Amino acid sequence: MKLTQMLASLLVVNGLLITGVGADAADPASARQVQHGRKLFNKATFEGNGRTCLTCHTQKTGALSVEQVNRSSSHDALFQHDAADVIGGNTFDRVHFNATFLVTIDLPEKVRLAGSTARSVTVPRGVPSVFNTAALDPVLMYDGRQLNLQDQALDAYFRHSQITEVPSSDELNDIASFQKTLFSSDSLRQFADGGAAPELPKAVTASEKRGRLFFTDDNPSNGNPIKGRCVHCHGGPLLNATSPGANAIFGIPVGTRFISAFVSEFELGGGTPLSYVFNEGESNEITVTSTDLGRALITGDPADANAFKISTLWGFKETAPYMHNSGALDVDQLLDHYQLYFNFVENVAGIVGFGMSDQDKADIKAYIKRM
Ligand code: HEC
Ligand code: HEC
Repeated sequence: MKLTQMLASLLVVNGLLITGVGADAADPASARQVQHGRKLFNKATFEGNGRTCLTCHTQKTGALSVEQVNRSSSHDALFQHDAADVIGGNTFDRVHFNATFLVTIDLPEKVRLAGSTARSVTVPRGVPSVFNTAALDPVLMYDGRQLNLQDQALDAYFRHSQITEVPSSDELNDIASFQKTLFSSDSLRQFADGGAAPELPKAVTASEKRGRLFFTDDNPSNGNPIKGRCVHCHGGPLLNATSPGANAIFGIPVGTRFISAFVSEFELGGGTPLSYVFNEGESNEITVTSTDLGRALITGDPADANAFKISTLWGFKETAPYMHNSGALDVDQLLDHYQLYFNFVENVAGIVGFGMSDQDKADIKAYIKRM
């Protein structure tokens, strides 16, 4: 490997060293590898429960909608152990309601559950799209727990597909190569190929223009730094990292990838709150009650409690339901949640005008339809 390729394959995200990702960006996979990866992604079951990657990451969107779940026949491989209401159970109300699957995560050493000796927790998580992500986002999973596409795929095969044969590293590489060819639009594909960053859509109507301003005006020196409230977190070319405005107002480092959008705090979509105890050394314990701790389940750091990977917004229109637990079934529920959130921030931080009025909500809805 050339030095430049090695450097390209070492990406530092939030102080987290991620190796391997992007290594084959410098060394494009052959058409044969991509074709083979597609076949495996779509068809390979490795003597498991019959699920393939395509069972959940569908061809049309790379994700899975409630409609798609409800169109599947009850014999479909979709309805296996982690789709059930409890692992291995035989009722499937939850997956029919919000297309989530149960994910079990080991607790970090210094974290325990109050009043329990359990060393893992099980939380419902929705299916994010594999479009754009594989080629353009080194942070994988809502909590960033997988460090590269190959380990991620192997783990998915064990967890979701209950495989009894193990894929080879060539097969895992080919699946990764295939996923890197999946984009929600040509402009994202061109960006991945080294082209210009995708541009936000233009606003046409007066309402869209106000919505765009609410979304995007992020110049902290423009005398009105409370605008640009979406781009504070949905910034950068992929709309998935924090912006200079968020730094100016809240001191959040530019480019932060994990943050709380208050989905767990506000119990959007319900869920079961559990009390997590963080051992901070010498009889110093911090207890956080949450439906899903997100990033802190991986880092063990209470500062990461309820933080999740900021989703890209490119292609989002096609991938409802939204948020890590599919807590918002559609754009209206999503914006109702953000209205609560912005009004809460206005009240707590005392930033007059930071909140979201019903008019703002209608405007932002009109604008993001164009994304
Ligand atoms: C049973 C449904 C299911 C199957 C089958 C499945 N996945 Fe997933 N996938 C998920 C869920 C749920 C998540 C998010 C979990 C989380 O963040 O905790 C996910 C996340 C991902 C991500 C991360 C996307 C992002 O934006 O961070 C990738 C990549 C991925 N899956 C690829 C695959 C591959 C490759 C296969 C086949 C080997 C596969 N998945 C099989 C449900 C599934
Ligand atoms: C404080 C940071 C923050 C702000 C401000 C913010 N978001 Fe988000 N957004 C996030 C995070 C984090 C997620 C993922 C949350 C999760 O998975 O629980 C997310 C997820 C989303 C999603 C879901 C994408 C998908 O594919 O599931 C949409 C859509 C979205 N945001 C739109 C917006 C809009 C529109 C605004 C402005 C009204 C906004 N966001 C403001 C941090 C933020």
